[in-house]
Order: sequence, then C-alpha cells, then structure tokens
Amino acid sequence: MHVLMVTSEATPFAKSGGLADAVSALSRALRRIGHDVRIVMPRYGIIPTDGLVRLRSGLDVETGDGVERAVVFKGVLPDSDVPVFFIDREEYFGRPGIYGSKTEPDFADNPQRFSFLSRAAFRLCDALRWKPDVLHAHDWPCSFAPVYLRHAEPDYDTVASVLTIHNLGYQGIYPKDGFPSFGLPWELFHGAGFEYFDSINALKAGITCADGLATVSPTYAREIQTPELGCTLDGLLRARGPDLVGILNGVDGVDWNPSTDPLIARRYSIEDMSGKAACKTALQREFGLPEDTEKPLIGMVSRLTDQKGIGELFGPTYGCAAKLCMDMDLQFIVQGTGDSWCEAEILALSARLPNFRARIGYSERTAHMIEAGSDFFMMPSRYEPCGLNQMYSLRYGTLPIAHRTGGLSDTISNYNQETGAGSGFLFDHLTPRAVYDTTGWAVWAYYNRAEQLDAMRRRAMALDFSWEAAAREYEELYRGVSAPRRGAGAHTIA
Ligand code: ADP
Ligand code: GLC
Repeated sequence: MHVLMVTSEATPFAKSGGLADAVSALSRALRRIGHDVRIVMPRYGIIPTDGLVRLRSGLDVETGDGVERAVVFKGVLPDSDVPVFFIDREEYFGRPGIYGSKTEPDFADNPQRFSFLSRAAFRLCDALRWKPDVLHAHDWPCSFAPVYLRHAEPDYDTVASVLTIHNLGYQGIYPKDGFPSFGLPWELFHGAGFEYFDSINALKAGITCADGLATVSPTYAREIQTPELGCTLDGLLRARGPDLVGILNGVDGVDWNPSTDPLIARRYSIEDMSGKAACKTALQREFGLPEDTEKPLIGMVSRLTDQKGIGELFGPTYGCAAKLCMDMDLQFIVQGTGDSWCEAEILALSARLPNFRARIGYSERTAHMIEAGSDFFMMPSRYEPCGLNQMYSLRYGTLPIAHRTGGLSDTISNYNQETGAGSGFLFDHLTPRAVYDTTGWAVWAYYNRAEQLDAMRRRAMALDFSWEAAAREYEELYRGVSAPRRGAGAHTIA
C-alpha cells in the first residue's frame, strides 16, 4: 500500500517525546513488510539542510490569506529507504522550537503553522504525481489533514485517512478567530467538528473527519471512551468507538538494545548480565553518586509535566520523593525538562539530598545510561497512552515502578513475591503514598528477593515489543478503511 505519514515530529529530525520515535519506527516497520511509506513534516529551524535535496518545484499552498509558497527538501529516514519530505516556510517553521519556545511555550500561530503543513501534504502529492492509498496523520497538529481530505480535496477522494491519537491531553485548542486562516468556509467550523466551547479544537475535528482512528495501546483505547480519561471528548470517542482501535507501540530494536548500544558503558544480554553492573557504576559516576553496586538505584527520564506524575513525586509540600530518599537506602536519578516549578524543585532536592541527583535537559546519551544502569525505572504517570520508556527499561532489565494505567498496564505485569512472577511493580491509584509504598516494596524485594528479581530482569529482557506486530495491525486498519472509502464521494468542496 502507499502510505503518507503526516507528522509534526520524527526521530532523529525533530523530537519532543515518544511521538517522534513511534512515527519513525512504524514507518520503517511498514516499509520492511513491503509498503511504500513516505513522511511529510516541517523543516524546523533546528533541522539543517546539509545532506537534504531541495526539490525543483515549490508548492503553492492555499490558506485563508491566499496562496503561500513553500519549498520542499527531501531526505531519507536513517536505516531505511523511507523518503522524508520537509516543508520549508520560514515564516511558520524557521524558528527553532517545534511547538514553542521558553518565552512562548505554545506558539500562538500553531493552528496556522500546522494547518499549513497538512494542506501542503496534498500539494506535495500533486508535485510528486503520487496518490497514497492512506493518509496517516498523527495527533492534533496533523488533524487538519483528514479534515482537508474530507472537505476540500476532491481530487483525493480515493484516499482514506487514519488518525493516530498519541496523547488525548493535547487537543490544539485555540481562539476561533483563527478559523478563516485554514481556508475553509465558516460552516465547517461546526460541520467538520472544530467547534469546542466556541473555540477551535483541532483534534476534535480530526476525530470527526478521519475514516479510521487508532491510539497507541488497547487499554488507552478503552480509557479514552470514559469520562475519567476522555479529556472531555469521551462522548465523541464513544460515538466513533467502532472505528477506533488500540495498537500497542513497539520498541526500536536497533536504537534500544543493551547488547549493541554504543551509548552505554558495557554491553550486556540475557545470557551475560555482568555488564549491567558496570553500567550502574558508570551512571553513579556520571551523576556524582557514591559508586556502590549494592544500593538499589532508581532512574527516571521524563517530560516533566503533570501527566507523568511529577506532582505526586516532587510537589513541594506533598510529593513523596524527598521522603523516599530520606527513609530508604536507595539512590534516585532524574533527567527531564518541562514545568519550571518542577525543574526548580528537583534541582533543590539534588542540592539537599546526598542520594538524589537531577539533571535538567535533553540527552540521548544519559537517557540510555539511565535505562541501562538503573535497577528500577520510575514511571508513575497519571495517564499513559502507551509509554515507550517502560518498554525500553524492560528491554534493559530495569524493572518499572508504575501506575497501572494505559499502555503501562498493557506492557508490565505485576510482581508476585510468592511465585516471583511479573516484570514490574504496579499500583492502582496514583497518590504520593502509593508511589512511596510501591517503591518501598521494590526496594524490599531488591534486598530480600534478589534471585526473583534477577529472573524477572531476564524475563523482562526477553519480552517481545516488536514494531512488526504493530505494523501488521496498522496494515489491517489501512485495508479496512481504504476499501469502503473508495468512490464514496463524501466531499463538500470548500
Ligand atoms: P511521552 O511521549 O509522553 O513523553 P514516552 O515514554 O512515550 O512518553 O516517550 C518519551 C521519549 O522521550 C523516550 O524516548 C524518552 O527517552 C525521551 N525523553 C523524554 N525526556 C527526555 C530527556 N530529558 N532526555 C532524553 N530523552 C528524553
Ligand atoms: C505520546 C504518549 C506516550 C506514547 C507516545 C508515542 O507522547 O504520551 O504514552 O508512548 O505518544 O505514541
């Protein structure tokens, strides 16, 4: 099949979180099973043009303000022959940030930037004289693509659309006076599902207009149809429930493999785990902690946002992290960026506690070191659509301490100290107390059930989270949506 991925992120070009990893790995896996996959994304200021080829023809993209011109650069996704087309328009994408900057965390013109990207995807297909079978859009920024397909691009009426929701917590809600800039008639403010408390909700329009819907784990697919985790769109998602599937993300076996990882101190495998201790010492040294392989070491790599349970851990009056570090004989390392209160708090804890270290910033190298060198991985997410970090940690024999929610409950099985079964330590309700107690349980097992933990680590490393399986499920979804759509003629022309 011919598939066009429309995305705001793809590893290694631009990444703010798991979306980037998921899009690139899924594209590679679909390619490996024989599909013609192409990616279209913005050329942000952070993406250098060296090594990219500039396409001869530019694109004339319709917006509410008339036709605007874009340049296209072509590259290739590393370790594959998947073409990546970068839409270049300085005014929208020239700045370094993907969605915002330190001073403007959410660019006010994001709806204009990303509607432009979605519309440009069609003009790119014109220029390539190529028509996909499926247009596969990701998250709210690319939710405009299924809308244009359904309502404004009659030449593409044989194309079906799929929207993957990687995170329902981000919906793209903006004042409605931006609507005319999309180049759609006002009746589509309601007609395409944009309207949301008299504002624009891009994701809601995408969910309304896409032919097929996916999210990134089976449990999250159920959760988002409930008021608790539906982020106010649960009614719409229930209505579209028959078209919604949960497809678990995988782990990229090349980037995340302890037996080949060039970023860790010593490689190791299920057969020979001895390198893991060397990784632990290297991690302790890197973060200035006493080098002691006997101490349980808890690692965490995360966007520092409420979704990740940072309040329960680091909330200045009620968070449990300080108490954990004072009460228990353990070490705790955190790396992340995000909410400034949290960045300040973990730096303060780091200065105060001898067994706690934090680093603010984004680093692949230390992220790999933490996955490999820790005994446990902390992931108390309030909600988690899939979560890649806990799968990385399982592959590295680092046992997650996690909230039983979303993809965490689909990938981690709870420890049983009678039988030694399980691959991690789970709690059912996120509270500071639950995080504290469950960490205490893990630390107890570390000191008192070392053999069971050793067997758990090996079992965790053998778990199969392959992207091939996900790619097969997407293939099925693509086939399901493309057949009925052909010739459906469901378009209203803008
Ligand atoms: P989310 O996409 O919600 O942030 P995931 O667990 O799916 O959560 O993916 C997070 C990805 O981002 C992982 O690849 C993780 O290693 C990476 N990541 C997050 N924060 C950092 C950081 N500060 N440094 C390095 N990698 C990070
Ligand atoms: C989102 C989710 C995360 C998921 C990732 C990739 O960022 O928060 O749970 O793993 O997308 O699908």
